Amino acid sequence: MTTIVETPSAWRGERLAQTQTGLTLGFVPTMGALHEGHLSLVRRSRAENALTLVSIFVNPTQFDDSADLAQYPRTLERDLSMLREEGTDFVLLPREAALYPDGYRYRVTEAGLSTALEGAHRPGHFDGVLTVVLKLLHIASADRAYFGEKDWQQLTLVRGMVDAFFLPTTIVGCATVRESDGL
Ligand code: PAF
Repeated sequence: MTTIVETPSAWRGERLAQTQTGLTLGFVPTMGALHEGHLSLVRRSRAENALTLVSIFVNPTQFDDSADLAQYPRTLERDLSMLREEGTDFVLLPREAALYPDGYRYRVTEAGLSTALEGAHRPGHFDGVLTVVLKLLHIASADRAYFGEKDWQQLTLVRGMVDAFFLPTTIVGCATVRESDGL
């Protein structure tokens, strides 16, 4: 059964009860519009942990172009049925106000790699990614969190942040499956 959790505080209550009984948790953060690559992360998490949590949150702070944010596909019902089919235990659907009570006044900035490559032409993108990942990792309180290796720069920056801030979650990079059309 897949349980939908609507707020970070509701999740923290669930997680507290789980940790008291020693249940390990794997966490897969997503922005929805799920495809085979995401499902391969869910499968890996399910193989390595007692429980799996997937979050779906279209994070506004990582879009440098508001038109891209407006056009980002939102396919919640389809996403949820795919996650149910995979046997995902929990899906967290936080609202923007719950994740950004500070209105994004506080943010994580990485001063090296984040300014190169994709970051060079998407100003602020990796600040938004790192900030939301920090929040989500903290809320999830997972043993492991799963990211695609395809997004090499994101994965490297997340690993660096986890080391820099002594976060307790192990970051697992996965060779994600490509769509059959090669995308
Ligand atoms: O890779 C993504 O889908 C996003 O950047 C992430 C990690 C879910 C943060 O919003």
